[in-house]
Amino acid sequence: MEAIELKNVTFAYPDGHVANEELNLVIRKGERVAIVGQNGAGKTTAVKLMNGLNKPTSGDVLVNGINTKNQTTAQISAYVGYVFQNPDDQIFNSNVQKEIEYMLHYLKLDQQEIERRVSRAVELTGIEGYLHMNPFDVPYSIRRFVTIAMVLALETPYIILDEPTAGQDLIGIKTLSNLLDRLQEEGKSVITITHDMEFVADNFTRVVTMANKRIISDDSARNTFWSKEIITEARIKKPQIGEVAEELGLKGNIIFRHELVELLKKY
Ligand SMILES: Nc1ncnc2c1ncn2[C@@H]1O[C@H](COP(=O)(O)OP(=O)(O)OP(=O)(O)O)[C@@H](O)[C@H]1O
Ligand SMILES: [Mg+2]
Repeated sequence: MEAIELKNVTFAYPDGHVANEELNLVIRKGERVAIVGQNGAGKTTAVKLMNGLNKPTSGDVLVNGINTKNQTTAQISAYVGYVFQNPDDQIFNSNVQKEIEYMLHYLKLDQQEIERRVSRAVELTGIEGYLHMNPFDVPYSIRRFVTIAMVLALETPYIILDEPTAGQDLIGIKTLSNLLDRLQEEGKSVITITHDMEFVADNFTRVVTMANKRIISDDSARNTFWSKEIITEARIKKPQIGEVAEELGLKGNIIFRHELVELLKKY
């Protein structure tokens, strides 16, 4: 099956700390999924299971039917690209362009293909103006886009973004939204961890919620944000539009601005 599948996966770190318990999840090729939940819930641990950086302590992770336990992280990373939560963990080169090209040279692609991939990744992330700078000299928000461009250039069918919204201004958020749309048009899967619930409501229909090492819900954004149990247990914040709708006692489990506007115009 063209999917990432987690089958009853439990994961403990070498120090014995159990960070994921009995995760079951299927993300098909082409799907766009948000993963939300409180700090320390186990989100990063879970996505690292999807790209082979973590191997299950028990249970199985399948990527397009291939069990990650028999594969190296390098083999899995041909299918699953992972953008680290902290960009500084992913940057090694002294120049943005070199950074994006680095893995492409390693993969021994020809020069024309490298140029095509770099220009696509640069265009998608809007970092044209920074190619000759040292990645550590560019603003944090741009540095995040440098690491996103590095992973986009690998052109994997699955892409994981670990908190890409952190530290982004309005333009950064807009660039991320456009990026999600473009990748979906190209048939890619994008799995995004974020604490920005407005971003989730605006960009995702499927939301996986984690709390205390487990997946507690896998549902639409609307059902997720209107479930008192889920938002309480995962300590997430309903998008503001939803909070206003709730305070006004409006029907329809509103989470979108246009829904609120249309309803209020009727009054
Ligand atoms: N290398 C490690 N060794 C031991 N425990 C770890 C390690 N990395 C993370 N943990 C612990 O595992 C738990 C889950 O961490 P994880 O980073 O997956 O959470 P998260 O949901 O991504 O949190 P955040 O929203 O803060 O990024 C936490 O209790 C964390 O302290
Ligand atoms: Mg994390």
